[in-house]
Amino acid sequence: MKTLLLKAERENIKLAAEIIRKGGLVAFPTETVYGLGADATNGEAVAKIFLAKGRPYFDPIIVHIGSEEMLPLVVKEISDIARKLSSVFWPGPLTLILPKTEKIPNIVSAGLPTVAVRMPKNEIALNLINEAGVPIAAPSANSFGRPSPTSPQHVLEDLDGKIDLILDGGETQIGVESTVLDLTVPIPTILRPGGISKEALEEVLGEVSLSGAEGVIKSPGQLKKHYSPKAQVILFSGEGEGVIEAIKEKIRELKPKGKVGLLLPEEKILYFKDEDVLLWDLGSYKALDVVAKRLFYSLRSLDREGVDFIIAIAPPKEGIGLAIYDRLFKAAGSQKIDVVAK
Ligand code: TXA
Ligand code: MG
Repeated sequence: MKTLLLKAERENIKLAAEIIRKGGLVAFPTETVYGLGADATNGEAVAKIFLAKGRPYFDPIIVHIGSEEMLPLVVKEISDIARKLSSVFWPGPLTLILPKTEKIPNIVSAGLPTVAVRMPKNEIALNLINEAGVPIAAPSANSFGRPSPTSPQHVLEDLDGKIDLILDGGETQIGVESTVLDLTVPIPTILRPGGISKEALEEVLGEVSLSGAEGVIKSPGQLKKHYSPKAQVILFSGEGEGVIEAIKEKIRELKPKGKVGLLLPEEKILYFKDEDVLLWDLGSYKALDVVAKRLFYSLRSLDREGVDFIIAIAPPKEGIGLAIYDRLFKAAGSQKIDVVAK
């Protein structure tokens, strides 16, 4: 199959919508990452997403809507909490887990009685969905397990020849995926931290739980290793001198085994400038929005540089920092090295 890469102009969005209606696959930008879309009401079309990505069928897919009117097509009972959250955060990077309708085939929800739904905050995405006239099922447009794509080039890297079209809308704004919030349990529970912070949800909801903290996998997407570059990621957490020393020791241990890359906040780079390693500046941990935007691109870039090991430091878990932390932790195979201050 030849994959078209076209600027996200009006005519091309129309073409993309036609491809979706005919059961094809289109990658498109959202405010978080690029999605790989198919008609969410067409099980055969959605099956092609799993094939193109190499995604296991037990991992359900998010359904994207272009207007409030599409919601009843996807969701059976729209609770008051769901209404409240959608009015505050949509369009935007919040995905809600709610009971699904018969219109949404089982392949979308991996057999679950629930469905993940969100309205993206991106004009191209919204135009595409509304032009197609159907909700669009779309996971991130990467090969399964790889870092999510934040540019059309990343999509091409992973999916060239496997999908019909990529709509080029430049780089995505947020850089990490949406927050997935389960509303089918007594206390709303974050299954995946993302673009809407836990703090922002708490302001609206009061109590919000965070799943996965105890290592229990509640969402099929909470696999222990995910978002991984080819290199092995080693995550450190801790403050001050101790963590610098521990990383230097790790570098000495790893150097004989392969090429080492450091993926560090600006504040820490300077401590390693004399080391014979590849230094990659993630931006300041005081500006976590910028770090989020650069994260997946940085992981992919380090891969391209051919490093065998990537050493990173955990960011503060505040605001979007929680999502960044989650992605780094998963990339590291759900392990980290805690350095206790002396
Ligand atoms: O920002 C995003 O969310 C992007 C853009 C394209 O919208 N999409 C995205 O999709 O990240 P994906 O498939 O890579 O991640 C969807 C997550 C997975 O962790 C999946 O397990 C979870 O949502 N999920 C989907 N449906 C679910 C359901 N019914 N119950 C629990 N978790 C669900
Ligand atoms: Mg994904």
